[in-house]
Parts: sequence; structure tokens; C-alpha cells
Amino acid sequence: MKNTPLKADLQTVLGIETSCDETAVAVVRSDGKILSNLVLSQLKDHKAFGGVVPEIAARAHLDHIDTLIKGAMEDANLRFEDLDAVAATSGPGLIGGVMVGMMAGKAIALTHAKPFIGINHLEAHALTARLTNQIEFPYLILLVSGGHTQLLVAEDVGVYKRWGTTIDDALGECFDKSAKLMGLPYPGGPNLEKMAMRCKNVGAALKRFPLPAPLKGRAGSDFSFSGLKTAVRQHIEKLPEGDLDPDDISALAYSFQITVGDVLKDRCHNAIERFLKTYSQQVKIPTLVVCGGVAANQHIRQVLQDLTNAKKMDFIAPPMELCSDNGAMIAWAGVEKLKKNMTDSLDIAARPRWPLDPSAEKRPGGGVKA
Ligand code: KG4
Ligand code: ZN
Repeated sequence: MKNTPLKADLQTVLGIETSCDETAVAVVRSDGKILSNLVLSQLKDHKAFGGVVPEIAARAHLDHIDTLIKGAMEDANLRFEDLDAVAATSGPGLIGGVMVGMMAGKAIALTHAKPFIGINHLEAHALTARLTNQIEFPYLILLVSGGHTQLLVAEDVGVYKRWGTTIDDALGECFDKSAKLMGLPYPGGPNLEKMAMRCKNVGAALKRFPLPAPLKGRAGSDFSFSGLKTAVRQHIEKLPEGDLDPDDISALAYSFQITVGDVLKDRCHNAIERFLKTYSQQVKIPTLVVCGGVAANQHIRQVLQDLTNAKKMDFIAPPMELCSDNGAMIAWAGVEKLKKNMTDSLDIAARPRWPLDPSAEKRPGGGVKA
């Protein structure tokens, strides 16, 4: 490998992500340049099971992690000696996979005498907007992924306030389970979106398949999605037996997406009002950031764009490849923590649960997800 001379004032971090069903490795520099970013999806390994199987995920991470790390270092044209730190997701997530990524990261850190940084996967999603858009703290975040649905305020690196969370299913989980009920292949979210876009008569779809908008109109910013999934099931049970008609499915998918958009608009509206009141003295331009895999959904992006336009706020939706799980977000979180000397000792443990705002867990309605 050829060595690229490093600019002395810049720091370079290797980031490793293995918390779910993507093995991802990237190298990112402190000026925000992504030197490499490799993602290997395990989609085909889990497809037959209709969801992620933890044991299969852990084994697949183990099979591919070395190759991805080698590839990411080659793409960045760097040697391990050139790195300033190694960052790896340390939770929350599937413990077997998290341990694979952490062990690989720790081994490199130990062998090359580099600092190791254990990254909270949710924090990495939350900080991505500072990689793509260089925004200042504080800002409001809607994090919507397969395992999490939260409204957070990022006050600083390591300092988050959780204002809302799901009291049952995560939004991505609701997309995936509803899509499965509709007979759509895994992963459900993007396939459900494709079906919704094919809906021919949108007015008729909403009349024929009305769905509940859980917690809409209530105070606060918590979410609930299990009732929505149940209502989808009930509609499907009423359809004629046999093969599901694609027009029926696209109408139901359309109604589902509109309902999800209504719920997100309502919940975010409350959080925005609170944010504007709480931080009006500190922020010149208030900003809402959307992140997590579900943020790839075009309808959801449009709803949030319209809402923030009406509130005269900035809206940031990172590019798709940085919204879903990736190594660049882990490396960037590493850059942010390294700048603040927030490094970890090599005995840091993997954490299946790791809330960003531990105090929120203790409040009534604090939710059940990490
Ligand atoms: O953040 P992510 O890649 O993984 C974690 O859960 O951490 O999010 C994956 C989730 C899945 O539930 C997937 O179905 C959903 O994001 N998703 C979508 C879309 N693309 C991915 N949901 C709705 N519309 C999409 N276009
Ligand atoms: Zn994620």
C-alpha cells in the first residue's frame, strides 16, 4: 500500500459498524472528507427468514470484517500507522455482531498503539448531519430506524435530551411488519414505499383503507405504531382470499404512508414548538435533522420539509447512503469524540442497550426501547 502524506492538523479515524445486518467500514478525516466507505449488506442471508437472525448476522460479520477493513484502508490509501484513532460501534444492537466489530477495532488499536473509541450507534446517526452540513449545536433530531424512533435534542457531543420515543414498535419495524403482511419481500420499508408510489387513485385508497394515527393530537412527542400494524392486518384479513391484488396492496401501502406522515408531522410539531421555546436564545437558525434508515422515505422527507418550511427552520436529511447504517457515521462520531479526548480503555464492553439520554428512561412514558 502506498502512503498518502497526511496534513498535520487533520485527524483520521477508522470506523467499524456491525450492530445489525450491515458490515460497514470507513475512514473519515476531521475536515469531513470521507476517504473510504464500504458497506456489505447481509440482506440475502436473512431474506428467507423475513427478518434479521442474530446468530447469522454475527457469523456473517465475522466472515467479512477483515476483508472490509483491508478494503477501506486500501481505498483510503493509508496504513494503520497513519490513523489517529479506531472507532467501533459498541451498542445498542445485536450483541454478537457488536462484539465482532469491537474486537476487530480493539485489535487494530492495540497492535498499532492507537486510541480506541466505543461509539453509541444512535449518537453516530445523530452526529451525521455535522459531517454532511457542519451544523452547530443544539439541533433537533428525528431518528427513525428499524430499532428506534426518537425525538432528541443534540446539545453537544455526548449530551442528548430525549423528548420522545416509541412506547411499542419502532417505525422501521412497523414498515417491515406491515410490508410482510402485504406479502412484500424483506426489507419491507423500501418495498412498501415502491408500492405506495404505484397507487393510482389516492382519494379512493384513503377511503377504502382508513388507518388509525396513534397518539396524533396528544401532548408530547412519544410515538406508538403497534396499533397501525394491527389495523393493516385487519384490512388484509378482509380482502378476498388467494393472491393479494397488487392494486389493493398499493392502495393500502399508500394509506399507510400517508398515516405515518401525519403522525410524524404531529409529533415533530410538538417537539419543534418546545425546541423553539427552549433554545430561542442560543440558536440563530433552528434546525431539524432526520436520520436512520426510514429517513430514506421520500414521502416522510417531504412532510418534514413542508413542516420546517412553515416553521422557518432549516431541514437536513443526509444523503441516503449516510442515513442507513454505514461506517462513515461511526468514523465521524470517532472524530467528534477524539477532538474532545473522549477515548475509551480497551476493556469497554459491548452494550445491547445504551440509551442516549439515560435520564429519559426513568421518566413516565420513557418508552421501552434503548
Ligand atoms: O438505520 P437502519 O439502516 O438500520 C437500523 O435499524 O439501525 O434502518 C433500517 C430500517 C428498516 O426497517 C427499513 O425497512 C427501513 O429502515 N427503511 C425504510 C426505507 N428504507 C429503509 N422505511 C421506509 N421507507 C424507505 N424507503
Ligand atoms: Zn441505524
